[in-house]
Amino acid sequence: MVNITPLLQHSIAPHPLLLAIETSCDETAIAILRGRALLASEVASQSAAHQPYGGVVPEVASRHHLRHAPQLLERATSDAGISLGQVAAFAATSGPGLASSLMIGASLAKGLALGFDKPYLAINHLEGHLLSPFFGSEAGIEPNVALIVSGGHTMLVEVNGVGDYRIIGRTVDDAAGEAFDKVAKMLGLAYPGGPEIERCAQGGDPARFGLPRSMLNSGDANFSFSGLKTAVRYLLPKIAAPEDGKVLSDLCASFQRAVVDVLVAKTIAAARAARRSLVTVSGGVSCNHELRTQMSLGCKRAGLELRFAAPRLCTDNAAMIAFAALLRWERGDSTPLTTEINPNLAL
Ligand code: KG4
Ligand code: ZN
Repeated sequence: MVNITPLLQHSIAPHPLLLAIETSCDETAIAILRGRALLASEVASQSAAHQPYGGVVPEVASRHHLRHAPQLLERATSDAGISLGQVAAFAATSGPGLASSLMIGASLAKGLALGFDKPYLAINHLEGHLLSPFFGSEAGIEPNVALIVSGGHTMLVEVNGVGDYRIIGRTVDDAAGEAFDKVAKMLGLAYPGGPEIERCAQGGDPARFGLPRSMLNSGDANFSFSGLKTAVRYLLPKIAAPEDGKVLSDLCASFQRAVVDVLVAKTIAAARAARRSLVTVSGGVSCNHELRTQMSLGCKRAGLELRFAAPRLCTDNAAMIAFAALLRWERGDSTPLTTEINPNLAL
């Protein structure tokens, strides 16, 4: 848990200006909210820098954060038409993530809070994803079963309100996005692999290659994607020309469908078990159109309501961190400046 002190340390202005910084992995992002209105949301992606390595290199990531954060800060304040002195509170992602990346954003936010004598809010990255389907909503957070599906995490959470979460399942090995990235690397596709696999899967036959749906009938809400990845690895040498356009397309479609089938079935089962009528889906993999289509069909059949994070809020961004900070702020929360980042921060 993030060490947030529920003391009413600040008077709650109705439409505070909040500035949030997200540097948990390989996106440098800064956003500014005035109340629920998004005034600015800057994201500097580092994909190109990590592409040659097929994954994120922590040292490269932190150097990029250091280089980009000051420019983003200038751009965000200029887009929002505000000065830093007007900001009511400064927030940053404090975990989970890469230590050397988290440190850059959290130090910057703490420095700003100290310099302008304003509160600091440490935000859990997972809470940012978790609440993102409600971004901007005045209605508050409706109870739901949430699927967070990203490069670092795949989990099902029962959400009862802000700060009231119960993890009901998670991956026991690879995250779904990680499986997309690793399989893409095997197939010689670029990083990040999710969008590449989705692109190649277009027009492909999802039934051509029989790939495993691990833990589909495990009777719990946990996931496993490492067996699927291994199945693709063993399959490749048996295919005559896996790089051939049609074969590659069928392979990507079959892999994508295997991931999606498990995500959809487990999410619906979890919602039923928790007796929730609303399902929410967030995180980088929730950009995926096949997931959106199959989850929509599955929820409709099961009589469940469904709410996705908006596509621009699926991959890492600071707007979702600012929104989580706003909901915390409205409860009167703030975080002591002595609170450290935590790469293994739990929800
Ligand atoms: O939420 P995110 O930006 O970072 C983490 O918190 O991990 O998620 C990044 C992950 C990567 O693994 C990426 O391959 C995956 O999301 N991703 C996708 C798609 N877009 C991004 N996976 C499948 N289909 C997509 N369209
Ligand atoms: Zn994320």
